[in-house]
Amino acid sequence: MSEKYALECIDVDKYYVMGSYKIYALKNVSFKVSYGDLVSIVGPSGSGKSTLLHIIGTLDKPNKGIVRIDSIDVTNFNENELSRFRREKIGFVFQFFNLATYLTAIENVALPMLFSRKYNSKEAEIRAKLLLSLVGLPEQKFKNTPRQLSGGQQQMVAIARALANDPAIILADEPTGNLDLESTSKVLSTIKFLNEITKKTFVIVTHNVEVATFTKSMKFIRDGKIFEKPPDDFLKMKVTKSEDFLRGDEGKIYKSIIDFEEEVVKRRFIDGEIDETTLENEILEIEQKRKTLKL
Ligand SMILES: Nc1ncnc2c1ncn2[C@@H]1O[C@H](COP(=O)(O)OP(=O)(O)O)[C@@H](O)[C@H]1O
Ligand SMILES: [Mg+2]
Repeated sequence: MSEKYALECIDVDKYYVMGSYKIYALKNVSFKVSYGDLVSIVGPSGSGKSTLLHIIGTLDKPNKGIVRIDSIDVTNFNENELSRFRREKIGFVFQFFNLATYLTAIENVALPMLFSRKYNSKEAEIRAKLLLSLVGLPEQKFKNTPRQLSGGQQQMVAIARALANDPAIILADEPTGNLDLESTSKVLSTIKFLNEITKKTFVIVTHNVEVATFTKSMKFIRDGKIFEKPPDDFLKMKVTKSEDFLRGDEGKIYKSIIDFEEEVVKRRFIDGEIDETTLENEILEIEQKRKTLKL
């Protein structure tokens, strides 16, 4: 019997068909996450983080490969099996909270419990209140709708909701991407605390290396590929030099803007909007701009 993992991806590919060619969002992705781990997957925008999270959350299917969650192979599950599996095994936290606008904090947390049919409405309410207390939402906010809560508080409700059906794994997509520094540290502290007391597995995808340093382990993603260690130039930001911009299309565009400025100044002189001295001064200024740009 092989070792069991909270999450396993084996040779996963995901591509999007755009006309006659395929764009690979994930290529040969293989990795394992142990039970009870708090792992971040860090990568720049467009690297495939959300695609990966959707696939391990069974919201989307891979084009190739195997996904095992809580040691169960979900690759060939049908839609009904998947939605039930998701409800019982996976909790989600998203960047924009995704709470139901017209429901109170309590109702948002209770809803997945009612869908599971494991709790009656009174029990769901009691458990929702307990979970909201656990994540630290002040009690006087329990009956507020999302609009009456701060971003940080909304994310607390979303975290409580993720725990509603006691899932095996909680998946978070940029959970602090929309929060200020204070709420960010509150959310991360809460996630860390929940990981410690519940021993549940948490997977956070983020572009923010600072967020990732909070987690027990880190993986890296770039161009749809997973790395256990950061690729050599991972943190080196590439800044294009201004000279390189000027040599490219941007230089030509900026030159057109200056040429157009000259046309407008001349037109204004012809139309009598400015006098000759102003015209000469403006032209001098435009020449000056051209000189600094060596155009
Ligand atoms: N529905 C889609 N159709 C076509 N391309 C997509 C789709 N979703 C994502 N992509 C592409 O897949 C790549 C990875 O996207 P995504 O997983 O959203 O990255 P991240 O979350 O890291 O910013 C990007 O190049 C993106 O443009
Ligand atoms: Mg994303």
